[in-house]
Amino acid sequence: MKSLVVFYSLEGDTKFIAEAISKELGGEIAEIQPVKQIPTSGFRKYLWGGKQVMFKDKPDIEVIDKDLSKYELIVLGTPVWASRFAPVFNTFLEKHQIENKKIALFCCHGGGKEGKTFGDFKEKLKGNDFVGEMDFEDPLKKDKDENLLKAKQWIRDIKDRL
Ligand SMILES: Cc1cc2nc3c(=O)[nH]c(=O)nc-3n(C[C@H](O)[C@H](O)[C@H](O)COP(=O)(O)O)c2cc1C
Repeated sequence: MKSLVVFYSLEGDTKFIAEAISKELGGEIAEIQPVKQIPTSGFRKYLWGGKQVMFKDKPDIEVIDKDLSKYELIVLGTPVWASRFAPVFNTFLEKHQIENKKIALFCCHGGGKEGKTFGDFKEKLKGNDFVGEMDFEDPLKKDKDENLLKAKQWIRDIKDRL
């Protein structure tokens, strides 16, 4: 099954899981890169990111050179920001039509769980077939090996089911 993992990651956690999943699937991977990078240091990132979520911003993103219609399974991965997906996905979903696909969702959070993240994705991607969702708690900072196993097992189960 031809697969694509699309992710955004500010501090590496989501990237870590996305790469493990993509490797397990033997598919392709694409990173969403904002044109203007958010500061990663200190409290500023919360103010900046929180503001983007609150105002439903669509920050400019670099071009993703993938034709999404070519893939059967699309995995979307995001950090949880203010209980929602990162705002760069507003831009990504506006620029890329995703229809009649199998979609798996994952997120990384700091302990507050997924909040509205998966619900918002499902709302925006109505009509697609959602085949799984999983959350990870700061996988680079906490229980790295355990989270790696969890990610591999999760995507393997999905792959076996499809
Ligand atoms: C702007 C901002 C808002 C956040 N909001 C939440 C939240 O609502 N709930 C939560 O559990 N973690 C929250 N976090 C923590 C991140 O979701 C978590 O550290 C995640 O693993 C980071 O993924 P990344 O390394 O791929 O960027 C927030 C982080 C940032 C920068």
